[in-house]
Amino acid sequence: MTDLATSTPAQLATLDAAGRATLFTDARTANTFAPTPVSDAELAEIWDLAKWAPTSANTQPLRILYLRTGPGRERLVPHMNEGNRTKTASAPAVAVLAVDTQFHEHIPTLLPFKPELKDVFAANETMRTTSGTFNATLQAGYYILSVRAHGLAAGPMSGFDAAAIDAEFFPDGRWHAILVINIGHPGPNPWFERLPRLHQQDTLRWT
Ligand SMILES: Cc1cc2nc3c(=O)[nH]c(=O)nc-3n(C[C@H](O)[C@H](O)[C@H](O)COP(=O)(O)O)c2cc1C
Repeated sequence: MTDLATSTPAQLATLDAAGRATLFTDARTANTFAPTPVSDAELAEIWDLAKWAPTSANTQPLRILYLRTGPGRERLVPHMNEGNRTKTASAPAVAVLAVDTQFHEHIPTLLPFKPELKDVFAANETMRTTSGTFNATLQAGYYILSVRAHGLAAGPMSGFDAAAIDAEFFPDGRWHAILVINIGHPGPNPWFERLPRLHQQDTLRWT
């Protein structure tokens, strides 16, 4: 790893075609999973890679609850929308992504040159909620790409009863569920048909 604080590389590295395919063009959303296990080490490493991607004021508000098969998973499945239950029950690992509503408490550690930002967030709940949700959602995108970077398939789902999941798993009210992600190796017939993506003429403006 280059220490950018002390040396400036002449040119930043690019990701080759194989890497881009793994993260973007060949990667798909999995709807079935093979019984191949996913280890705790893999799940920890997925986070350890994703955590380096940027957030505003380095606030890092995303939190993750990992649920393996067994009693914990059985508590989650009924809170998923019906069409999401079978795949959530069968995935080797499930991550409940949540925003820490009190993320600002870490600001003195995460932003040591401006610790007083903690008090700004503490005094403004609207700003705290807006910033926390935005940045946790951003981190959720990074997290999906990190799953793919580890040779695994992700199945993100927003179809669930968030209030019920919060009551079941986060009863102290501090974490709030934003996305559930099935994680594993793809099983039989794992993908839906590839859907079209918007073209540049519909998405880009230039001045
Ligand atoms: C934030 C988010 C929420 C999603 N929620 C659901 C869901 O509740 N149920 C479902 O079956 N798929 C869900 N999906 C899957 C998307 O439909 C899928 O990722 C998209 O169509 C692209 O599919 P592809 O990666 O195979 O091209 C969700 C994806 C994202 C990113």
